[in-house]
Amino acid sequence: MNQEILLELLRVARETAVSAGQFAKEKFDQPRTVESKGFRDLVTDVDIAVQKLIVDNILDHFPDHGFLPEEEDATLPESGPIIWIIDPIDGTTNYSRQQPIFAISIAATHPVYDATQTVIAYEPLAGVVYDPMCAEMFWATKGGGAVRKDGNGRIYPLQTSPVNNLNDAALCLSLGSTRDKRIQAQQWMRALGEYVFTIREIGSATLSLAWVAAGRLDIYVNQGIKPWDVAAAALLLEEAGGSFGNTTGNGFDWVGGAGDCLATNGRVHAQTLQILAENRL
Ligand code: IPD
Ligand code: CA
Repeated sequence: MNQEILLELLRVARETAVSAGQFAKEKFDQPRTVESKGFRDLVTDVDIAVQKLIVDNILDHFPDHGFLPEEEDATLPESGPIIWIIDPIDGTTNYSRQQPIFAISIAATHPVYDATQTVIAYEPLAGVVYDPMCAEMFWATKGGGAVRKDGNGRIYPLQTSPVNNLNDAALCLSLGSTRDKRIQAQQWMRALGEYVFTIREIGSATLSLAWVAAGRLDIYVNQGIKPWDVAAAALLLEEAGGSFGNTTGNGFDWVGGAGDCLATNGRVHAQTLQILAENRL
């Protein structure tokens, strides 16, 4: 894709993420409504309001683009030359309990079609992950590298960690929501836990991937991932030298809902896959 178009997609995504993040931060300490939209799956009034802010801003710039957002909205166009994959607040459980770890995730993607014109994947072109509580933004464009901007406006290239041995690795592993997934996750946690340096679960898949891209974590495992959790951060990770796929060593399933994800710094990917395979129930 033409570089000028990529940069324009990125510019709009960044500007939109800042407005969305400021809004979510302003509302952080205020009372909010929290509803269940599924088993161990929450939505707050702020998720809905932030999504509307994001979508309205993008449509102002690109009226012919489509959307794949986390929160259901039948009024939005689903198809277009570019599909915006959006998680208005990734880390909703954290947000709903006033735990200050969450992020806005906005990705401009290119839909990939099969011979019957069915979408089989999304190729991220430009992605932004914004952590408003730290005023920290991560962004990337396809083939253009990835960067982090800190709260003081300084910009750093994103690069995964040099860790090449599981003994030195920081693992982040999510439990998942169903009983079966939790039993599997605990088996993997036990097996990987014998080797890794330390384990975290920060409650936001998109920030976890961004932190792998930034070299703060080395491995992220989650069996319950949706495209909006990772569309922006997968691009960050790939541009920062990491590896992103599923727990069997294949590509992430963008449309089938498998939800299976393994993201690493690249160097410990094969070792991690081997332990996951040996401990698959
Ligand atoms: C969830 C968070 C969580 C992860 C779940 C996601 P949400 O997204 O990223 O950390 O474990 O798989 O669905 O609901 O907070 O946007
Ligand atoms: Ca969310």
